[in-house]
Amino acid sequence: MIRIECLHKEYRNLVAVKNLSLELEEGDIFGFIGPNGAGKTTTIKMLATLLKPTSGSAWIGGHHVFEQPEKVRGLIGYMPDFFGVYDDIKVWEYLDFFASAYRIPRDQRPGIIDDVLELTDLTVKKESYVEELSRGMKQRLCLAKTLVHDPKVLLLDEPASGLDPRARIEIKELLKELRSMGKTIIISSHILPELADFCNKIGIIEQGNLVVAGDVNDIMKQLTGGRVYEIKVAGESDRAVELLSALPDVRSARISGETIQVEVGAEDFDSHRILQTLMENRFRVTSFTEQEADLEDIFMKVTKGMVS
Ligand SMILES: Nc1ncnc2c1ncn2[C@@H]1O[C@H](COP(=O)(O)OP(=O)(O)O)[C@@H](O)[C@H]1O
Ligand SMILES: [Mg+2]
Repeated sequence: MIRIECLHKEYRNLVAVKNLSLELEEGDIFGFIGPNGAGKTTTIKMLATLLKPTSGSAWIGGHHVFEQPEKVRGLIGYMPDFFGVYDDIKVWEYLDFFASAYRIPRDQRPGIIDDVLELTDLTVKKESYVEELSRGMKQRLCLAKTLVHDPKVLLLDEPASGLDPRARIEIKELLKELRSMGKTIIISSHILPELADFCNKIGIIEQGNLVVAGDVNDIMKQLTGGRVYEIKVAGESDRAVELLSALPDVRSARISGETIQVEVGAEDFDSHRILQTLMENRFRVTSFTEQEADLEDIFMKVTKGMVS
């Protein structure tokens, strides 16, 4: 759905985005993570056809972003990091304006406006003036405007920034709904946990370099080199740790709070061996889980020492 090849942008003598390459499939939700000034907005603006790269190419839905921008604009919904809202205009008029800009026929607009208002939970505000909305509602309205032409691809630049916790949760719920509609989404943030719940892929950008990108769990495996199991047993944890440490392919076993953490090296490790060992030694296993990828950890590992 999205293919980026060696995308590069320089502002005078500053490299904002450095030879960035990336491929996303239809339905992928890509979390684009990096600190302020890393190059997220510059990258997203280039994909949104609003900024010409210094070099490199990108395709969205098979169309070349820089050679066929009009084709691409019909496919994408772009939500900028800062957006102006117009005064003296009602919520539905605001949406009607954008719908007409996308050349949606007049007779179809009322239905579409009702649909996007419902999706963004703004139906009750249809007749309100835009300036009367709260920050969170304005943000949702901006997302509603991004959806009027039913784009397949969404480019969302920090859609939850500056919102209070409640409004953030509302945006998150909305994003989950968009995910279930099968949209391909690039969403940026400088806050990690914000993206953890709903992205299947992530990329971390720092000083214009995409330092790592891919499936969240693959990245986790790459960085730990294996998998981590978390086990709780009733009884002597020390003895269990001793036994598990001795198993082949187990890199380390240690106690962390209430649980035993076992890190294994081999990709094809059969987790049953851990359970079997514990059972044979009469430990009662009360919980056994494979650790989920922790974005915060990944970020720290990837960018260690690179943040100035
Ligand atoms: N129009 C511009 N002219 C010069 N430098 C810019 C311009 N826009 C952004 N930059 C610089 O490019 C770098 C990347 O910025 P940006 O893409 O906005 O990062 P992010 O969105 O990750 O915070 C920063 O160092 C920023 O100062
Ligand atoms: Mg930005």
